[in-house]
Amino acid sequence: MSAPALSTAEEITCQRHLFEVPAEVSYLDAAAWSPLPLCVRAAGETGLLTKRRPWDYPRSTIPAWVERARAAAARLIGAGPDDVAIVGAVSHAMAVAARNLAPVPGGRLLRVADEFPSLRFAFDRLAAARGLTVEEVPWPPDGDWTAALLAALARPGAPPLALATLTPLHWTDGSLIDLDRLAPAVNATGAALVIDATQAVGAIPVDVTRWRPDFLAFPTYKWALGPYGLAFLYAAPHRQDGTAFDEHVGNRPPAVGARRYDRGELNDPVALPMAAAGLELIAAWGAPAVTARLRGLTDRLAESLGALGLPIAPRSLRAPHILGVRPSGGLPAELVNDLHRNGVFASERGGGLRLSPHVWVSEDDLVRCTDAIRISLAGRRGAA
Ligand SMILES: Cc1ncc(COP(=O)(O)O)c(C=O)c1O
Repeated sequence: MSAPALSTAEEITCQRHLFEVPAEVSYLDAAAWSPLPLCVRAAGETGLLTKRRPWDYPRSTIPAWVERARAAAARLIGAGPDDVAIVGAVSHAMAVAARNLAPVPGGRLLRVADEFPSLRFAFDRLAAARGLTVEEVPWPPDGDWTAALLAALARPGAPPLALATLTPLHWTDGSLIDLDRLAPAVNATGAALVIDATQAVGAIPVDVTRWRPDFLAFPTYKWALGPYGLAFLYAAPHRQDGTAFDEHVGNRPPAVGARRYDRGELNDPVALPMAAAGLELIAAWGAPAVTARLRGLTDRLAESLGALGLPIAPRSLRAPHILGVRPSGGLPAELVNDLHRNGVFASERGGGLRLSPHVWVSEDDLVRCTDAIRISLAGRRGAA
C-alpha cells in the first residue's frame, strides 16, 4: 500500500448517483457490507428472470459468466484468470488453502491478535495437525502493526516461520499492516504466505505479483460491490495441484489451474453476473483513484473527529478507507444506535467505532456523521 501511485492518483468524484442510497441515509459501513450499484442490481435481476424461465435461456449461454467474473476478479488483483478459483466464502477459500499446505512440523504460524475467525479456524486446525506453534502478535501500543510483525518475524530464538496468515489492515479498526514491507520479509524466510484481502479489494490496490502469496482470498459483498455468498481464491501457480473439498465434474481434469478449487453449482446465473458487474465497475474507476477518494474522506473525518477530542491514529498508521475511533473510557454503549437514529450507519468492532465510507459517500455524509457523533457523545456525557 505504500506504492507511490496512491498518493499521486487523481481521485474519482462521489459516485452516489450509481447507487440507491436515500439522501437521508449516511452509510459508512462498507466494511460490513455494501449497497448494490444499480448496474449490479440489474445484473442480478436479469439473472433471476433467467432462472424463472429456463426454457427461454439455453444453459449453454451461462458458463460465459463464470469466466467473465473470474477474469474481472483476477484483473483486480494482478493475477491471470487461470490462477483464480470461485468459491462460496472466505472461510471456504481458507479451508481450501489450509488443506493444501503442508508446513514443516515444529514451525511457527504468525498472525495478528483478534484476527477475523474465517482466517483463523482452518489454520488452527492445520497448526494442531502439523505441530505448529501459533504466535499472535499483540496489539502494538504505538499502533504500528508493521513494525510489531517485522520484529516478531525476526525474533531471535523463535521457532522457524512456517506460515504467515495476514491482512493488509486490521479488520476491526483499519490500522495498517503494510504488506509491501511484510510480504517480502515472509517470502524471504521460505514460509507460506496466506492473505485475506477481504477488507482491501475494491478499496485499495492489491497485487499478487508484489506480495507473492501462496493463497489470497476476497469476497464480493463488501468493497467489491457485489452479491453475498461468493468469493475468489487466488492460488499461486505452484499451489494449483491440490484438492478441493467439494469434488465435482467441473473441478476435475481437464480443469485448468486454480479451477480445480472451484465450488460446486458454479454456473450461478444471478451471483456471477452481479460479481462481474461490480468488479468491472471498480476496474473502470481504477483502484488508485478509488483509494484516493476514500483517503480524502477518512482524512476529513479524522480531522473533524479529532477536533471533537476523539483519539485518532496517525495518518501513516491508518489504511486509506477505514477509520477506527476508540474514545478514551470506551465506546458508549448506545453510540451506534444513536447514529442509526440519526441516519448514520457504522459498526462497533473490537470496542471501537468503525467508519468505512465507500464511493457513494458524500461530503454531506461526513458532516452528518460528525454531528451525530458529537450530539450523541454530548448527550451521553450530560446524562452521566
Ligand atoms: C477480514 C475478514 N475476512 C473475512 C470476512 C468474511 O468471511 P466469510 O466470507 O468467511 O464470512 C470478513 C467479514 O467481515 C472480514 O472482515
